[in-house]
Amino acid sequence: MVPAKYHTVTQKMPADEDVTTKEQAAIARNISSQYETVLWSPVSPEHIRAGTEVHLFVPANNLKNVLDDLQTHNLKYIVLLDNTNELIEMQTRNDSSDPRSSTSYYERYHSLEDIYFWIHKMAQDYPDMIKVLLIGSSFEKNPLYVLKLSGRQERAEKRAMWIDCGIHAREWISPAFCLWFVQYSVSFYTQNNEIKEILDSMDIYVLPVMNPDGYQYTWTTNRMWRKNRSVRQDSNCIGTDLNRNFDANWCTKGASPRPCEEIYCGQYPESEPEAVVVANFLRSHKDVLKLYLSIHSYGQMLLFPYACSNEHVPNHADLLQLVEEAAMKIKKHYRNIYKYGASAETIYLAPGGSDDWAYNLGILYSFTFELEDRGRYGFLLPPSLISKACNEALLAVKSVALRVIQKT
Ligand code: ARG
Ligand code: ZN
Repeated sequence: MVPAKYHTVTQKMPADEDVTTKEQAAIARNISSQYETVLWSPVSPEHIRAGTEVHLFVPANNLKNVLDDLQTHNLKYIVLLDNTNELIEMQTRNDSSDPRSSTSYYERYHSLEDIYFWIHKMAQDYPDMIKVLLIGSSFEKNPLYVLKLSGRQERAEKRAMWIDCGIHAREWISPAFCLWFVQYSVSFYTQNNEIKEILDSMDIYVLPVMNPDGYQYTWTTNRMWRKNRSVRQDSNCIGTDLNRNFDANWCTKGASPRPCEEIYCGQYPESEPEAVVVANFLRSHKDVLKLYLSIHSYGQMLLFPYACSNEHVPNHADLLQLVEEAAMKIKKHYRNIYKYGASAETIYLAPGGSDDWAYNLGILYSFTFELEDRGRYGFLLPPSLISKACNEALLAVKSVALRVIQKT
């Protein structure tokens, strides 16, 4: 039984760095590391500064304490969600057996077991376009499957792109997007010139759930889990942030060496099996891989390296142009705003990310997309909003992929 939970937000504090707001930021950092709260945004208390908008998930039994604290210190807040139990129930309901349900498989969230079944079914149903590759396994020995998508009119010199979803367990819209993308690719190959062009020019490797142990744990035990589920001898805390475990300024500012934190970087770069498996796959395909994409939520952002440093990459202007174009298309077609830019200046420093590492490996078109929303539902995006979130992300993926095909 999940206890009733409330998600509250402290309103954006004044941006000027006077003493009061600095003090308030310190209070907000303090509250967010107490009362069994889960910080939704930013990912770690250390990113809370004067002026930072903070999204905090609060267990019902501690709600009074948290609100009292906020009031005592004059921190303004609004309650964004007061029905998170219902939302969680809605997300895990399996209405596929209900013949009156009008929503498709792709407009629901799926358990790990369901996704494994789906992977094999897709390969069976589309044997000419989909191959399943078992590339390794997780800490708890769950398999890591990649779907290799190819067009029917293979070109001689074939390039490739990579998409991973579900690095972070609680970001459910991310695996949902990978499923959406695969389904779109095979069913619109003959009808949509753009996806045909992409598939005929590039093999697409799709890893639908990069963190299967964590994902499973969000279904069974704790919906707000982020990290993987690896255990270590020297701590009772479980899990490493897989997006801090890659060898890109590993464990510097923006990651934590403390195992109990959400942004724990692990014992050393690639200490986690999930990161090793992905890094090995990318290393062994680096000559063909021209585009790397990592799908996360939430925040609506199209990001590129670096996240691990404030330095601009050599092709910064080129990457900026690609995400700007993608963001414009989303704005035009879906009337939705996506921020775009280099990660470090758009969100925060986050060393050890897969995108930075892939970039340094030589995949010079490397992106992290943060899908919907901007905090209204956060990680609890209702199933009814899956299709819009996926369609706009799909538009961005296609836009970027087509440009990369032209450029490489
Ligand atoms: N929100 C994600 C995280 O905290 C991505 C931040 C950007 N980092 C990156 N490596 N692209 O891990
Ligand atoms: Zn994430």
